[in-house]
Amino acid sequence: MCGIVGAVAQRNVIPALLEGLKRLEYRGYDSCGIAVYQQDALHRVRSTDRVAELAAQVHEQQLQADTGIAHTRWATHGAPATHNAHPHFSGHESGASRIALVHNGIIENHDVLRDELRNIGYVFESQTDTEVVAHLIDHLYQGDLLAAVQQACLRLQGAYALAVIASNEPHRMVGARNGSPLVAGLGEGENFLASDALALAGETSQIIYLEDGDVVDLKIEHVHIFDASGAQVERAIHTVHLQSGEADLGPYRHYMQKEIFEQPRAVGDTLQDVEAITPELFGDNASQTFEQIDRVLILACGTSYYAGLTAKYWIESIARIPVSVEIASEYRYRDSVPNADTLVVTISQSGETADTLSALKHARSLGMENTLTICNVATSAMVRECKLAYITRAGVEIGVASTKAFTTQLTALFLLALAIAQVKNQLPAEKEAVYLKSLRHLPKAIASVLALEPQVIDWAERFSSKEHALFLGRGMHYPIALEGALKLKEISYIHAEGYPAGELKHGPLALVTEAMPVVTIAPRDELLEKLKSNMEEVHARGGELYVFADADTNIASSTNIHVIRMPENYGMLSPILHAVILQLLAYHTACALGTDVDKPRNLAKSVTVE
Ligand code: F6R
Repeated sequence: MCGIVGAVAQRNVIPALLEGLKRLEYRGYDSCGIAVYQQDALHRVRSTDRVAELAAQVHEQQLQADTGIAHTRWATHGAPATHNAHPHFSGHESGASRIALVHNGIIENHDVLRDELRNIGYVFESQTDTEVVAHLIDHLYQGDLLAAVQQACLRLQGAYALAVIASNEPHRMVGARNGSPLVAGLGEGENFLASDALALAGETSQIIYLEDGDVVDLKIEHVHIFDASGAQVERAIHTVHLQSGEADLGPYRHYMQKEIFEQPRAVGDTLQDVEAITPELFGDNASQTFEQIDRVLILACGTSYYAGLTAKYWIESIARIPVSVEIASEYRYRDSVPNADTLVVTISQSGETADTLSALKHARSLGMENTLTICNVATSAMVRECKLAYITRAGVEIGVASTKAFTTQLTALFLLALAIAQVKNQLPAEKEAVYLKSLRHLPKAIASVLALEPQVIDWAERFSSKEHALFLGRGMHYPIALEGALKLKEISYIHAEGYPAGELKHGPLALVTEAMPVVTIAPRDELLEKLKSNMEEVHARGGELYVFADADTNIASSTNIHVIRMPENYGMLSPILHAVILQLLAYHTACALGTDVDKPRNLAKSVTVE
């Protein structure tokens, strides 16, 4: 998704801007650009190629500047083309470009504003909603960039993070945030703006997370923040240490592969502070909250939603309270029936997903104030907006397809099931001890699944010639079938569907031919015999089965039935192990097809627009 970096300094800021863009590349983008103040004028370079190509152009033009803004764009309004790439310029009255602006988010009233600005003579060069904001600020500009941005924000509807510079005001940059993330970075005699603190690693570790409605005025000597009412406010300064090396690929071919193999470490780290099950793992007042609630509502998107679906099975079975799981983008617009005794749980890797944040706000507006998030970014909006939180320790996830974030979410959600169960008197000490033992052994169990990689590579070769695939699971493995199908489709572009195996004969069996591989998750559980009948239904119709079977399931390979044996049956935590093997299948199929595994087409890492 789009990324912003900006700097005002007493040195050449171009290396910092380009390095910042490189750090944001993993989020996905289709064009990029930079604008700087140099010798009393604004200069701009844009590219529909990679940041490296932009950097080559910048060096060729010998740009040097101490004030500048830069952007990676993920197209929403207007095709990925140079004229739509940011920064956008405006300079109606002076003839020369007076304002340069970069924007993340979506301006919803861009049509109305465009008409107004056209009527007073502004000419539009792009199809973007962003150019409207540049012209609006130019129109309102009377020599004070801060005042112009503040006035412009009053006219904007939608989500935005902005960084703006003006040709009349060297060493000044103004930012604004509403619904899209933006941070200010504080340096010595230099200050920065970015959509993600990661972009500023190496420049500063002193970070201010701006709040919705904030407008920020950055000069060399100060950073002043104003809230939506225009009053100057203080915001907390956080020291954010981004470990160097996190972005290194090491011996792996792709970040996704690296992140799959990091899962024993990531899950181990997520469990690091868990000595016993206690509600306080989720925050100081969790005990009281868990006592009060009698149901759970989980809100999330994509892979995080599938983590929520899995958690429903765990929480209902272990803690014995009802759970509903909703796709965040649907929930926020649905006329649902609220209940104040609900624990609202959001799940998000990034903690900045616009749909999930809006769904959370919607739930709160309906009077549901008991909120908890499972999130991988401690400083994110999601963590700030929720009363309780469990921070997963997956580390920075760079591959667009979520892997280690998913399994650490599942780990945290299992802990949540246990903690609620404890408060509801559903967790006898002996059961707690058994679950804790399984959790502690989980990193090793994941490592033994990873050791199956060579067998999966063999299957992946065969998958790469297919156009469609079905993924079957039952019970708590049904969400894992959905996740396996999502992983395959997003990185290999093979069409895949996840189904609860019992649903086969109600429709999808019609699709089964020798050309349709049917991936089956076959743990040894109480549904195994029923699953075997479902597999028979496929086999009898000439379908080809690829089965991940627990060691003691008695499912043998035969014509059209291929079996990879999972190392051990892992009881309630088995979905985590099956998720890992399906990640490997998707990854190696994509490699066999030669797709851009870490940056699949059309997708972005952190979806900060609706
Ligand atoms: C798929 C994937 C996405 C995200 C979804 C939510 O591999 O990564 O489906 O899970 O966009 O993102 P977060 O968890 O950051 O809210």
